[in-house]
Amino acid sequence: MAEKKKTNRPLQGMFSAVPRRYDIINRLFTLRLDERWRRMAAEKILEGGPAAALDICAGTGDLALALDALARGVTAVFGADFSMPMLAEARRKADRAGSAARFVAADAGELPFRDGAFGAVGIAFGFRNLTYRNPGRERYLAEVMRVLAPGGRFVIVESSQPRSRVVRALAHLYVRAAVSLVGGLISGERGAYRYLAHSAVNFPGPDDVAALLRGAGFGRVEYRRLMLGAAAIHVAYR
Ligand SMILES: C[S@@+](CC[C@H](N)C(=O)[O-])C[C@H]1O[C@@H](n2cnc3c(N)ncnc32)[C@H](O)[C@@H]1O
Repeated sequence: MAEKKKTNRPLQGMFSAVPRRYDIINRLFTLRLDERWRRMAAEKILEGGPAAALDICAGTGDLALALDALARGVTAVFGADFSMPMLAEARRKADRAGSAARFVAADAGELPFRDGAFGAVGIAFGFRNLTYRNPGRERYLAEVMRVLAPGGRFVIVESSQPRSRVVRALAHLYVRAAVSLVGGLISGERGAYRYLAHSAVNFPGPDDVAALLRGAGFGRVEYRRLMLGAAAIHVAYR
């Protein structure tokens, strides 16, 4: 599994600038709910005991680490990300936890795995990056389909849009104030956190995400709203 060379994409540079404080800021802004949501996604990914599972846009590795801890050796767990600093942090955390999860440098649109290699693919808080105003989104979804075995599942945990207008307005206010302003100040990366807040506020609701997945060729798509719809877990079957 060859490590890929760095490319110069803007998102890659942005995420490479934030790994040290990324986890702390995540916990702070979601009041640690991000950990519970990743665990719920991990349980969905592991349903049926796939032989291998892949976490794409793995970042500092939290979903892959949760998967490996829950899988107890039944499922081989891989994490892929194109940011070397994020991956370095993921590997440090895996070493510290004694985790068997393996991390590879890869663009989600060009995964170094054979067709049908995985019974499940997961993504935590990275789907927005791959699909929100991203001209490559069809390629990313096609690549997930390619590495999924027939009948395999794609599990997405991502911020979403609350159904109630009042809750949505409050959630957007919180995201703009906390994520954009405070996140930018704590991390020193204002541009990165402004982008994260902007994409969260403008990201489509769960029905549109389900339609996007069906349009990419997935069969059945289910979703569950979390915390009044502030986030959602989608499961799309190949
Ligand atoms: C918001 S972070 C989420 C990280 C992690 N999954 C989590 O749960 O905290 C998004 C991650 O996606 C990665 N990423 C964005 N676009 C990517 C792409 N095209 N290929 C691979 N990784 C990508 C970034 O480097 C970053 O680590």
